[in-house]
Amino acid sequence: MKIHRDTGCGTLGAADAGREVALGGWVDSARDHGGLLFVDLRDRTGVVQLVFDPGKDQELFRTAEGWRSESAVGVRGAVRRRLPGNENPRLQTGEVEVVPSAVETYSVARPLPYDIAHGEAVDEALRLRYRYLDLRRPRMQENLRLRHRLFAAIRDFYTAEGFVEVDTPFLTKSTPEGSREYLVPNRQESGTFFALAQSPQIYKQLLMIGGLERYFQIARCFRDEDLRADRQPEFTQLDVEMSFVEEEDVMAQTERMLIGAVQAATGIELPHPFPRITHADAMLKYGADKPDLRLPLEIVDLSAAFARTGFEAFARTLAAGGVVRGLRVPGGAVLSRRELDGLVEEARRRGAQGMAWLAAEAAGSFRSPIAKFLSEGEIQALAQQTGVAGGDLVLLVADQPAVAAAVLGWARLWAGERFQLTEAAAWRPCWITDWPMFEWDEDENRWHATQHPFTMPREEDLPLLEREPARVRAMKYDLVLNGYEIGGGSIRIASSEVQDRVLKAMGVEGVDRFGFFLEALQYGTPPHGGIALGLDRIVMLLAGAPSIRDIIAFPKAARAADLMTGAPAAVTPAQLRELHLRVT
Ligand code: AMO
Repeated sequence: MKIHRDTGCGTLGAADAGREVALGGWVDSARDHGGLLFVDLRDRTGVVQLVFDPGKDQELFRTAEGWRSESAVGVRGAVRRRLPGNENPRLQTGEVEVVPSAVETYSVARPLPYDIAHGEAVDEALRLRYRYLDLRRPRMQENLRLRHRLFAAIRDFYTAEGFVEVDTPFLTKSTPEGSREYLVPNRQESGTFFALAQSPQIYKQLLMIGGLERYFQIARCFRDEDLRADRQPEFTQLDVEMSFVEEEDVMAQTERMLIGAVQAATGIELPHPFPRITHADAMLKYGADKPDLRLPLEIVDLSAAFARTGFEAFARTLAAGGVVRGLRVPGGAVLSRRELDGLVEEARRRGAQGMAWLAAEAAGSFRSPIAKFLSEGEIQALAQQTGVAGGDLVLLVADQPAVAAAVLGWARLWAGERFQLTEAAAWRPCWITDWPMFEWDEDENRWHATQHPFTMPREEDLPLLEREPARVRAMKYDLVLNGYEIGGGSIRIASSEVQDRVLKAMGVEGVDRFGFFLEALQYGTPPHGGIALGLDRIVMLLAGAPSIRDIIAFPKAARAADLMTGAPAAVTPAQLRELHLRVT
């Protein structure tokens, strides 16, 4: 008998008792009880219990008994209140059950490869191999719904503010934005390639030159990067660009949007205004450009306190332009010698010459291999600046500023975890401002843009472009939430001459690769700027998921593999020939 669903399983309640309903869904679980068969039927709205009584209808009972878990079935029957004492308060529909009078088996499921209800406990590779089963878990469905609600709220916000969503090409020209690109061979001309867009950056700027003024796009981006919990080779950005604006305009509007969209999608109130931290301050205090502000520990610079130290190791570092920095670890004095040795070892592995420690057994009395080399005054200054109290530990690193920041930044996070110092269930967004324009790339032996080469240097720093790139500051801002970089943007270069100089400072011959863009900049470019937010990371944080793979329907695993389809995979010799390619 054909059954045409008219009601959602999860919508049924006491008020529906006596109603005749048609349901459709998946067999969640089944139990035999006192001769009766109880089947939980699940659809996207929830679960309801079906009761089959062999005494009433032998044939129906037999059919239902034969259903395997996760089979797709339809049921028609009467809703009735459960007998007093049989209610299930943990189930939304726990006051009622449905007594079927007809059933239809749409599709019997094969024996399952794993217990999908407890998918969280199985190897992720197995979940990804059977992603369509994994997606049946209510948790995964809620993740995708949350993602949708956020996207919808974002679209509402920008639409109301007069923005236009414009989709830009995926097949583009290779650009020096910073990431390794996916290349697409061109059948039409041997040896030429498209690059998949690593972001819509150039196109959104061309839209500003094109007079759109206010653009946004929920855009897919492609970057050939190694997998991490917060990184995918294809991911989704909220991409925004505006004309006739300054840094402040973009930051204020983005903040307003994020607060509103997060509230609409989840009910979560982000604390605001978002604090603003300069890049230099973030590196000093948190040893990171994406500080987790839920962790109330700050690194302090002790260089001045040790300026005249007799301790050889510190004196040498300071003389060589280095710094001495310290981190107080509340309660850290309990660490064993072995754990401390392990910490020092890890600091070395991360590039530090070493890491010193002082454990405050009681206020003013330190256990430490280096205490004997420090003067009374130095210890006092150190204690005062770090705020160390009895039972605390102080970690010290004397090194070049970048190394001290990296190592103590790592130690800060380590301590936060080891002593559970991170505020749970807190939201700590912040802006990181005043970035340097360039960073030196040791591997490639050249300057790299910290954002990308289209970011505008501060006007007053323009003369330094050729002479002292290290000192050029950029009109760039990053958005950080709970230790994750969730967005970044900048005011852009609106002059072809400045654009060419910046590209040259990075060793890129602009006219060769970007002639079209340098040309476009010469036809009346409005001042413009924008930002892109990593939507996957934001949804991951809001969902409390451990990885962005949990909030993307079909993510890639390690080595960019799609474990379900088997992509990437070899292609036929004929396909290769057509693309003028030979595999070596
Ligand atoms: P950026 O490269 O900083 O800026 O990217 C913006 C944000 O996108 C997220 N993100 C990623 N998320 C998941 N997987 C990845 N592989 C990945 N890479 C980046 C981060 C990041 O902050 N065109 C510029 C934006 C602009 O200047 O307007 C851009 O793409 O959250």
